Amino acid sequence: MRSKQKLAIFASGTGSNYDAIHEAIQTGELEAELVLLVCDRPQALVIKKAADNGLPVFVFNPRDYSTKADFEAEIVKQLKKAAVEWIILAGYMRLIGTVLLECFEGRIINIHPSLLPAFPGLDAIGQAFDAGVKVSGVTIHYVDAGMDTGQIIAQQAVAIKPNMTRPALQSAIQLVEHELYPRTIQQLLTQGE
Ligand code: GRF
Repeated sequence: MRSKQKLAIFASGTGSNYDAIHEAIQTGELEAELVLLVCDRPQALVIKKAADNGLPVFVFNPRDYSTKADFEAEIVKQLKKAAVEWIILAGYMRLIGTVLLECFEGRIINIHPSLLPAFPGLDAIGQAFDAGVKVSGVTIHYVDAGMDTGQIIAQQAVAIKPNMTRPALQSAIQLVEHELYPRTIQQLLTQGE
């Protein structure tokens, strides 16, 4: 049997998707190994979560580098050292540049809190809420050089009920994210086996 595939999570914030993926690995729902957290915000909550789980963390401050290519080259070094096979973006608030895209072609995925191509970019939940749409949802997609433009892998709709508040919509979307992301990663890792 093939050994478990090695994942790195990239995150910039709270890390609720990080938690969901970690948990799914613990329960065996997701058969993979989490080997590294990459974080571009030294004060992000997700760092403590990963450290508490004993996961190696690479934290960097983009301002310490002159270009994106420079910090991505450092990230690639860390990823190679940890033998990472897949990059899982989970609230990583930066566009992925050429250096990472070329090294991990077809092996970087992202989760976005809307039904893409609707509401790409920042605050997708607020955008959907303000637009008054009746359905939004969650998309998991491959990452390319664009903003939330890569090929779609999975989507799940979330109904926006009458009188639903924005925080309630956010909770409903997060609930779906935390179930859909681990399940989709598991499908990706096992496809073709
Ligand atoms: C999620 O809503 C995800 O879809 C988006 O960023 C958010 C990250 O949340 N890309 P968390 O840090 O995983 O709680």
